[in-house]
Amino acid sequence: MSNREELKKEIRALLKERDAIMIAHNYQRDEVQEIADLTGDSLALSRAAADSPASVIVFCGVHFMAESAAILSPSKTVILPRMDAGCPMADMITPEDLIREKEKRPGVPIVAYVNTSAEVKALSDICCTSANAVKVVDSLDSPMVYMIPDRNLSHYVSLSTKKRMEWWNGFCPTHERLKPEDVVKAKKENPGAVFVCHPECRPDVVELADHVCSTSGMYRYARATSARTIIVGTEMGILYRLRKENPDKRFVLASKALICPNMKLTTLEDVAEGLKEMKNIVTVPDDIRIRAKTALDRMLKVPRDF
Ligand code: 13P
Ligand code: SF4
Repeated sequence: MSNREELKKEIRALLKERDAIMIAHNYQRDEVQEIADLTGDSLALSRAAADSPASVIVFCGVHFMAESAAILSPSKTVILPRMDAGCPMADMITPEDLIREKEKRPGVPIVAYVNTSAEVKALSDICCTSANAVKVVDSLDSPMVYMIPDRNLSHYVSLSTKKRMEWWNGFCPTHERLKPEDVVKAKKENPGAVFVCHPECRPDVVELADHVCSTSGMYRYARATSARTIIVGTEMGILYRLRKENPDKRFVLASKALICPNMKLTTLEDVAEGLKEMKNIVTVPDDIRIRAKTALDRMLKVPRDF
């Protein structure tokens, strides 16, 4: 057996020993996705964290995701194998920024994309992910909402809701790198291909898409479309499962720049070390956790968009 195979076997044994579940975001390295108990988008992983009977969750993703798991499941131990795996978009809004924006708009509900810190969630009314953002906004009573931190997701939602929306000017540096000219070039090189992208992409990229959805939405779209070639506008980690599940279709990444360095940090070695030493445990202080949980729980009651 090769060293990689032995390591995978060791991780599976450690997971059993620790009564742990390993969950991985769709952008993780192929070998991490390969041995995870569950892979999915942010919403599916939040639900799994809330529902799993395991006492330990190894969260292969970025910090805000592990934090959400710790908020939803305070009695579980949540391990983030790489504590330095953050999300630059989540860091673009601080609690102080949000307090200032709230003061400018008394009574306007705050919708926080899950890509935010626990403190920011605690100051928000409801969370959303890319899979349920329109439904979450539409579920609110108010005629106006303020959405944080992603200007691109917010703009995308504003096209599908009747509510008046304002938003914070954050963005995902990985998705922002995809330019309309990349899509036009990929379309020219692949006649007949469809283009699917994530709503974190710029509005001028979204405009060119045949379909816009969360990462797990892309798996469903890829299965359903009759197109043989699919141009993909999101982080390259998505290709692993797309290709595995659709061996008869061709997937073309819309730009080589679609790599999130933070999502790529976690290795199998990090997972094994985290489990062996039970280290890199993410916790959230109770006063913040309880308020942030209210915002996440409200989101989990809203059905997802497909
Ligand atoms: P989803 O998997 O929820 O679509 O999220 C994309 C993302 O950028 C997570 O960081
Ligand atoms: Fe954050 Fe973008 Fe990376 Fe997702 S892909 S973790 S939004 S930087």
